[in-house]
Amino acid sequence: MIYLKKYIPYLFLILLSLYLLLYISWQAATTETIEQSSWSCQGEGRNTICEFTNFCVDSKTGPFIIHADRQPPKLNLINADEDGDMWFEPKRVDRPVKAIRMHQTLFVYGLYSPFHFSHFLYNGLIPLYSTMLEYGMPPNAWTMRALTHWTKNTRVDLIVPSHKDIVFDSKDVLTEKQVEAGYQTMCFSKAVVGTGNRCSLWHCDRHIPAAHYASFKEYVFTKAHQRNNTCLTSIVHHTSAGKYRVGILNRKSTRHITNVPELIDRLQKEGDFDIRSIDFDQSACDIVHTAQAVKDLDILIAPFGNGLGAGLFMKDDAVVVSISARWYSEDWFKYAMTAVGRRIFNFECGRAECQEYEPALAASILENYNVTLNATEMQAFMTEQYPEKTMRTYLPGREWNPILQYQKDVARRVDVESFIPYLRMIIKNKPPKGVAYPDACNQENVCCDTKCKGPLDRNVRNELGPWQEL
Ligand SMILES: *[C@@H]1O[C@H](CO)[C@@H](O)[C@H](O)[C@H]1NC(C)=O
Ligand SMILES: *[C@@H]1O[C@H](CO)[C@@H](O)[C@H](O)[C@H]1NC(C)=O
Ligand SMILES: *[C@@H]1O[C@H](CO)[C@@H](O)[C@H](O)[C@H]1NC(C)=O
Repeated sequence: MIYLKKYIPYLFLILLSLYLLLYISWQAATTETIEQSSWSCQGEGRNTICEFTNFCVDSKTGPFIIHADRQPPKLNLINADEDGDMWFEPKRVDRPVKAIRMHQTLFVYGLYSPFHFSHFLYNGLIPLYSTMLEYGMPPNAWTMRALTHWTKNTRVDLIVPSHKDIVFDSKDVLTEKQVEAGYQTMCFSKAVVGTGNRCSLWHCDRHIPAAHYASFKEYVFTKAHQRNNTCLTSIVHHTSAGKYRVGILNRKSTRHITNVPELIDRLQKEGDFDIRSIDFDQSACDIVHTAQAVKDLDILIAPFGNGLGAGLFMKDDAVVVSISARWYSEDWFKYAMTAVGRRIFNFECGRAECQEYEPALAASILENYNVTLNATEMQAFMTEQYPEKTMRTYLPGREWNPILQYQKDVARRVDVESFIPYLRMIIKNKPPKGVAYPDACNQENVCCDTKCKGPLDRNVRNELGPWQEL
């Protein structure tokens, strides 16, 4: 035995060489030499989209192309306003590489504030889905998130038909779909880079066709949901019979509606409403379960904001009603809904009776600007529509920033007595079956309320807009 010992180093060497040999032959079998990349682009400036051949990625270099002397173009990957633009430029490697050849098409995209439900949907996911449709929705596509505007490393449910989603921050690998680029180089035969700054908001260069929203909605409903998901089990049914199914959504922290019980009571007295409360503050309310929560509703009533984005998943003849606070209203969801084809109405609060006062909210907003107000000034800040004189001393030139933030986020009451006739008007004005959405919009107070010029001009009365096929 002792005498065998001296062979151990040789044995070790033999095993090592065998291993190396196997590794080299495996490499040779799975990789090939990838020559030059090429590309062609459409669009211009911030809305440019480019198609590449031989688009490669690995953990060491990141995304890159192969070319001896030509630099690849820089492309904006974000679908939002110009301040949100983020430019992506793959690296350039000047000689052929050994890589695994991927025959799938890769879509390279960016996300805008993906922690925010509606920004994720309308400024990120749907623009990506729409681009994939435009490029023929290739089977087994891969995606790559190259840039994120304001990341909080949120768990992103990338509901598009892609096999894997390459990310570059290990903290973003949070679902089965995301993978990090590996040590071994992969080169995709084809890559579509950019989504062309497309969305339904005023600030996007390109439009998303209404048909693409409909296709995305249909795609989401093909995904399995769990009946016991708390987004669904937290729904409270108040009345279970009635002609119109109404969902009332409230928010816990900001923009809370303080008299929802009064609203429910009053709707119940009307006799023809089937009413339920919905709660999107549940973390279980991902896209699939949010869609399930609203799919059968005729009417969704919610404070202005994020939750209104769920309107996409409602029935085609359903309506979304936004509850504003006194002195503040915004068009954001009117833009989104007029492109989707959902009726949308804003219920403004004109009277002091529906105004609420939140000193703690005011103080915390002001704290972000390093401003502390005395009692008299605080009174002005919360009770006046135009308290800019008070604020100008502290924030000259920026006096409106905290004022608008407060007026947007403050709690509110629904003026129930005027709300009921408003809701009746909305119900009465529902267009008959078979009337196309853009045609319904020809009359006031049918597809949108009377303050809807911007959204209708961009998205409906526009030959190149989302409804151009009709
Ligand atoms: C829901 O049910 C599934 C199995 O049917 C179970 O795995 C899961 O933990 C349940 N979830 C909740 C929130 O109860
Ligand atoms: C508030 O003060 C802090 C510390 O003095 C500073 O870092 C911050 O930029 C200030 N914020 C604003 C909005 O001026
Ligand atoms: C509050 O501040 C204002 C200056 O903005 C001042 O004129 C007023 O006297 C102060 N009021 C109190 C109660 O301190």
